Amino acid sequence: MIFIDAALRKPTPYTPIWLMRQAGRYLSEYRESRKRAGSFLELCQNVELATEVTLQPIEILDVDAAILFSDILVLPMAMGLELEFVSGEGPRFPYPTRDARAIAALKSSVQNELSYVYDTISSVRAKLPKDKALIGFCGAPWTLATYMIEGQGSKTYTESKRLLYTDPQLLHTLLEKITRELIAYLRAQILAGANAVQIFDSWAGALAPRAYVEFGFRYMCDIARAVKEEFPHIPVLLFPKGVGAFLEELRYEADMCGANFDVFGVDWGVGMSRAKHILGDRFVLQGNLEPALLYNRMAMEEGVEEIVRIMGKNGGHIFNLGHGMLPDLPRENAIALVQMVREKTKR
Ligand code: CP3
Repeated sequence: MIFIDAALRKPTPYTPIWLMRQAGRYLSEYRESRKRAGSFLELCQNVELATEVTLQPIEILDVDAAILFSDILVLPMAMGLELEFVSGEGPRFPYPTRDARAIAALKSSVQNELSYVYDTISSVRAKLPKDKALIGFCGAPWTLATYMIEGQGSKTYTESKRLLYTDPQLLHTLLEKITRELIAYLRAQILAGANAVQIFDSWAGALAPRAYVEFGFRYMCDIARAVKEEFPHIPVLLFPKGVGAFLEELRYEADMCGANFDVFGVDWGVGMSRAKHILGDRFVLQGNLEPALLYNRMAMEEGVEEIVRIMGKNGGHIFNLGHGMLPDLPRENAIALVQMVREKTKR
């Protein structure tokens, strides 16, 4: 599998590519499957339809990896938090986790309640061509905690930061609890057939550098360590979004704690040359085309050329967007992007 080889820094015939949120509303096939499922959450829990949706970008875009169709928030849901997806508004936990009692009430050892995820993974792996990888995933403890504490997406992260700076020990208790669940969850995904796992820390950029290292990055590294210890051949990819201003601090922390993940996902807010300079000798880099460039084919091509010029053709790079596909991006440009990257990076 070209994607796995690249993630482990082995030679590949070209730079592999997949797109975050490659299965989603920009595909009419996805909208059709979601309609048949009834709702987004029912789609996540319907093994047959989730399998179909996971495979759509492989058939339509010919990307080098499929990513499990699910959501990061199904784990807190399994821990006992009621979850709603209000259409047009995004996810909502009507009963947020804001005090010691709510944290103590969270269920543990919940991996068995997520069997629909593992069934989807086995079903996708059985149908996926042998040279295409299947990526499992989870949300990072910090990002999951912000949703659980705020009850929804946030611009200010008021309650999460209030907890962080008034009762840091209690926040650590919550993060540790989530971390234990995530390790068991990723382990079960790998046993079901996931060939790699990515941890999404979408709200990493909400914290000041020192706070992010202590309450965010360290927990991601703990999960990576546990996974790599048991499955050294499974690539672990971290995607901390919004950390461009403190890449040096993350590099220092990675060195100090002996971080052993394989791939560092770079978001579109970071110059790829800076990311390469600071992190490229230690981690394979993934990214980081600004998704909005896909509104314009010419702009997209220039963006691809710049990234390929910086990252070269000698490995150490997995092509991706710098964040997820947007619902109104033209699919033709996503299809063209995959072909373009393949042609421009041929060894
Ligand atoms: O990448 C893929 O194709 C795999 C599936 C996937 C989804 N969500 C499907 C989804 C993955 C990997 C995620 C991760 C996820 N979910 C993250 C981390 C990545 C990131 O984008 O930063 C986060 C923060 C979430 C939480 C979440 N789920 C939000 C905030 C929303 C609403 C925003 C929106 O785009 O509507 C979702 C819903 C969601 N997850 C959709 C999809 C395809 C859209 C649901 C729909 O069909 O209406």
